Amino acid sequence: MLRPSGPSMPPRTDPAPVGALGALRAATRPAHDAIDGAFQGGLRTPQDYRRYLGALLPLARWLDAAWCHDWPPHLACWHDPGRVDSLQADLEALGAAVPPPGRIPPAGPAQWMGGCYVIEGSALGARLLSRDVAAMPAVGAAGLPHGFLDRLLGDPGRWPRFRTALGAMPGSARPALLDGAALGFALVAGALAMEGHPA
Ligand code: HEM
Repeated sequence: MLRPSGPSMPPRTDPAPVGALGALRAATRPAHDAIDGAFQGGLRTPQDYRRYLGALLPLARWLDAAWCHDWPPHLACWHDPGRVDSLQADLEALGAAVPPPGRIPPAGPAQWMGGCYVIEGSALGARLLSRDVAAMPAVGAAGLPHGFLDRLLGDPGRWPRFRTALGAMPGSARPALLDGAALGFALVAGALAMEGHPA
């Protein structure tokens, strides 16, 4: 799959995956392409960076609040309880007003894993976007905050493990997975629209 991309966004070269990941990727491609378009190929300014973090906040809040402790324990490693705080801290450090949480859509485990696909997969693009952030001029003495990006990118084995976890899900979970991924991307698009930059 080629992503429409700016100078810092090389085309994808990985082979087309099959199974749950292939289905998720194919179903959400238009949603992701729209988000790419809202950032015109990358993060160029601290304002872009703020929009990027703000776009992920409702998704992170949903994944945090919808997680249920009585779901299968092998899913617990995909619940990251510090993610929302790190996003909020970076947004505040960038001078953004952090909006109050909206309604939290209910989810079952497979739908939640579909939502996790959206944020776990976003680490692939974030590796490139973090280079854009590193190239931005510092704002204030402390420089640009990067707690969320460090968290997202800190464990390079996480995405391969997530792919394996997706592959282990039964075929009957596929509709709920796709539903959760669609909801995840809709939360991101909704946040961008609130900021006047629809995806
Ligand atoms: C802001 C919210 C964003 C979300 C939720 C998001 C989500 C995702 C997801 C789920 C994937 C994995 C696709 C897959 O391989 O199955 C992905 C990959 C990717 N994203 Fe994003 N993305 C976002 C923003 C961006 C932006 C702004 C760009 C660049 C303009 C971008 C560039 C990429 C690239 C290049 C990849 C593929 C990397 C690779 O395959 O090596 N993403 N993203």
